[in-house]
Order: sequence, then structure tokens, then C-alpha cells
Amino acid sequence: MHVFKQKEALISQLSAEKINYKTIGLVPTMGALHKGHISLVSRALMENDVVVVTVFVNPTQFDNPTDLEKYPKSLDKDIDLLEELKGQVIVFAPSAEEMYQDNIKSEKFDFDGLEFQMEGKFRPGHFDGVGTIIKKLFSIVTPDRAYFGEKDFQQLQIIKKLTEKEQLDVEIIECPITREDSGLAMSSRNERLPESIRKKAAFIYQTITKAKENFSSQSIQQTLDWIYEQFENHENFELEYAEIADEKTLKSVKTKKIGEHYRLFVAVYANEIRLIDTIALN
Ligand code: PAF
Repeated sequence: MHVFKQKEALISQLSAEKINYKTIGLVPTMGALHKGHISLVSRALMENDVVVVTVFVNPTQFDNPTDLEKYPKSLDKDIDLLEELKGQVIVFAPSAEEMYQDNIKSEKFDFDGLEFQMEGKFRPGHFDGVGTIIKKLFSIVTPDRAYFGEKDFQQLQIIKKLTEKEQLDVEIIECPITREDSGLAMSSRNERLPESIRKKAAFIYQTITKAKENFSSQSIQQTLDWIYEQFENHENFELEYAEIADEKTLKSVKTKKIGEHYRLFVAVYANEIRLIDTIALN
């Protein structure tokens, strides 16, 4: 398997593939790969001739320096996992200097307000960082398709908006959330959870699943009040926010309207580790 650290070398390899009319799939990751990532790569391999997996912990999307510093890194293990897959996978694992030269800064984007909801309120500048790195990766790889998980539903909508506004010729493929046996949404951050807390984190998925059941007979406010109550006295988990939002605008909603699609979003702290999850409500 090819592992590139320099963008010029990757670009020249991909040009050779494109001359042979090969289609290119892109799976952008920050490494510490888990089954969720592998399911994205497997799908990309089914739908493309060549799949580029990028492994890059993007500094500009972290609003919290400790979170950036503690983000798990395991490139050798990631490569071993990818080597088990059948098909042509190329890894691109650049340094921050390679991606940003000496200017580690985000571009400013207008995502029509999507960036100010939920994660945008709690992680200022986060989506400018995501937009910056995705735009750079798209311009280096020029993929036919790019794959993103629904766990980061807001990120997914923002990347779709980026491709629409910048008129980028890439199909964004959304992939369902992969969950641990307990129901906990897979995330590289789960690795930092002590085993006992990781088991108890099933509580997050149980709560949002029950909230979905309640949603058909309860108002939005009742559903949210119930969620806040569940977390209020929990010894391990602190709810940062629970919001019910319109799936398209991501704006939080107060009353239900017929024909609209709603989704529940939660961000939860387990010790100092931040976990997010989401579920479609109707
Ligand atoms: O979801 C992630 O892992 C990151 O936000 C992404 C899309 C790889 C950009 O750095």
C-alpha cells in the first residue's frame, strides 16, 4: 500500500490513475481508525477504483488546545488495519507544515448559518477549520466521491454546502453511524474513555433512542425536558446540549410542523472527553 506524506507525490500518483480512467474515492479522517472508518473505506472501495484515506489531525478545527494535544494518534496501526482490506487504498498522512506551510490558519466561510448552530455555538471557529482542510484535500485529491459519517451530521451538511458554494465537482456520500455493541457511536475519542465509563456510555444511545420513541406522543419541549432530567443526576455524564433541529436548516425548533424532518443532537462530557450523537426523530 502506498503511503504518501507529500502532496506533490500523491498528486502525481493520482494523475497516473486518472489517465487510466480510474475513479477516485476519498475518506478524510483524523486517524485512530475504528470500525466506523473502515465501513466508510469499504463502501468507498465498492464504489471506486482507488480510495485515498487521509490521516491528518487538523489543528485549525480544534478550539481547545488540550483536545488537540490529546487526540489519539496511531498511524502504523491505522495502516495495518487498511492493509487488511481488499482493493487499492492509498494513504495520505501529511504534516501540518505540508498542509498549511507556515500559516496554520482557517479560511473564513459563509455556510448560510449552518455553522452557527449547535457545534458552532460550543466550538467557535470549528467549521471554518473543517471547511479549510476539506477544501484543501478536495483540491489535492480531486475525488469523484467523498465519504462522511452521519455521526457528525452538522459537519456533513456543512461539507455539502461547501461543495455547492465553491462549485466543487465531488459527490458527497453520507454513511450511517457505526455503533459499538453497547450502542455508543464509534469515535476515535472513545479510546480515551476508561473501560468502565465506556461501558456505561451505552446510556447516551439508550436515552436518545427512548427520546425518539417518546417524540411521537410528546411535544419538543417535553422531549428535551425528559432528556435533561435523565442526565441531571448521572454521575458520569454531563450534558452540554440537547437540541431538536430541522434536518435541513439545523435550526432548533420549538413546535412540530407536518411534513418537516427533525433530528435530535446531543453533546456529552464523560470526564473531560466530549462525545456527540444524533438520531432522526421522524
Ligand atoms: O470528521 C473528521 O474526522 C474531521 O472533521 C475531518 C472530516 C477528517 C476533517 O478534518
